[in-house]
Amino acid sequence: MSAPGTGALAAGDRVRRGILVLSGPNLGLLGERQPDVYGSATLGEHLERAVATADALGFEVTHRQSDDEAALIGAVHAARGEMAAIVVNAGALTHSSWSLCDALAAFDGVVVELHLSNPAAREPWRHTSVVAQATDGMVAGFGGLGYELAIRAVAGLVPGSGTDDGRSGRAPQRERQEEMGP
Ligand code: DQA
Repeated sequence: MSAPGTGALAAGDRVRRGILVLSGPNLGLLGERQPDVYGSATLGEHLERAVATADALGFEVTHRQSDDEAALIGAVHAARGEMAAIVVNAGALTHSSWSLCDALAAFDGVVVELHLSNPAAREPWRHTSVVAQATDGMVAGFGGLGYELAIRAVAGLVPGSGTDDGRSGRAPQRERQEEMGP
């Protein structure tokens, strides 16, 4: 657990080394799905890149892909108290799932939002990420390179990981809850 309100490690805290990479609806079709937008690499190939980067930085990746919102939320719940970080590409749920946003807000670690494409440069309905307010930051628009960048971002943010710079872009939980309203 972090020292209250600081995100810093308290004496005796164990540094978690697990990173949950969470892939939402339709991402299992990468490689076949709109290759002009998402490229020709499969999700498995992107994961290999994430795992190799995590290995080099002393982290361990666990992956979960589902087309089912409830399964994704369950995976976030299971990560609480266990994982150091979540790297989440929620697919189209990015733009609609307040439930996933709430689940991520209740996660006690680093959260990095990831997109292969750059949603801000696409159709207007993709311009809003409702999960963004529960994240530390976003990596978007760099295709498969994003998997490596997202893991590097995690290593830079996890307190006590040896590579962190002590910053977090994630609002304190109290502030996030106020923003989300009643
Ligand atoms: C995506 C962008 C989303 O808008 C879209 O619905 C996806 C993939 C991306 O990785 O670029 O499924 O998250």
